[in-house]
Amino acid sequence: MDQLLSSPAIVQGLRKVEARIRRLSGSSALPAISAGAGRIVAAGGKRLRPALTLATSLALGKTPDRRVITAAACVELIHAGSLVHDDLMDRATERRGARTLNAELGDGKALVIGDFMLARAGLAAITAVSRPVAEVLAATVVELAEGQYLETTDLFDPARTRESAIRSITGKTAALFRAGCLVAAVCAHASPEDRARMAAYGERFGLVFQILDDLLDLTAPAERLGKPAGNDLRQGVYSLPLLLSGTDLGDLLGRPMSDEEVEEALRRLRASRMVDDTIEYCRGLASDALAALPVIHDQEMAGILYGLPTAYIDHVARISLITPR
Ligand code: IPE
Ligand code: IPE
Ligand code: MG
Ligand code: MG
Repeated sequence: MDQLLSSPAIVQGLRKVEARIRRLSGSSALPAISAGAGRIVAAGGKRLRPALTLATSLALGKTPDRRVITAAACVELIHAGSLVHDDLMDRATERRGARTLNAELGDGKALVIGDFMLARAGLAAITAVSRPVAEVLAATVVELAEGQYLETTDLFDPARTRESAIRSITGKTAALFRAGCLVAAVCAHASPEDRARMAAYGERFGLVFQILDDLLDLTAPAERLGKPAGNDLRQGVYSLPLLLSGTDLGDLLGRPMSDEEVEEALRRLRASRMVDDTIEYCRGLASDALAALPVIHDQEMAGILYGLPTAYIDHVARISLITPR
């Protein structure tokens, strides 16, 4: 991820994307909405998805122009808007090191500020990028909503299946990574095959990203997470790493856990094969991601896109409790 986010070409593009994100998030007729949207946008974030848009554009031989920059900004604005809604749903009080909008302003205001961000991205895509890009992004917001919804229907379900978890994260997370790559391919007028290849790469990497985020929630020390571990367990989200672990948590699932029970569940999960099996699962997805990539003539971007999934998996394996074999 460092290689992507520190590439001079990407850094240069992200500067323009940043200016566009700030303009869009601050464009409400109501200053309070602009302030709320501006708060989450200014609080930080890695800008991973727009960086992938820029990298895809360069990989396909297109220097990012105004349209690509705006498309990348729309992708990040959708991400940030979805985080506002996610924090509301998850009753989270902190995001990006700052208080969440729901904690700061209340649920109603957070809800409509999230709506504003998603809708503003759609408006910018149709007016300043192109209809096909706007269509990709609108379809992605649909998938995002469906993925988030599916997670709520599975909450506290001890019979949640791996397939159900994968379906949810494909919608809530992988769809936007997919879109981040696809919009750049669309702007570059890439062939249908190359569009599909870049989209598949983004989706596979997006799955890896969410699964590893879920793994860290169960394995990383609280100092690193900036919140107590086991948040998903507390919320009743039985994530893929838990489902892959084969750990018997039957006595603890299906109802809210006390703090002691969360500790006990984490102890059992950490003593299981969860880390190894999750890392292995992600390596399979990473290999699918690489197999999907089209021929890339730009040497730097080829190195970045080929290296990204494995580098991130190795990084998470290092910081998870158990070292990979
Ligand atoms: C957080 O995404 C939400 C997930 C999909 C896990 P990021 O980790 O990319 O969040 P920011 O943008 O850097 O804050
Ligand atoms: C991230 O989901 C939000 C979306 C993908 C919309 P999570 O709830 O799993 O992630 P964090 O832990 O809040 O970032
Ligand atoms: Mg959340
Ligand atoms: Mg959530």
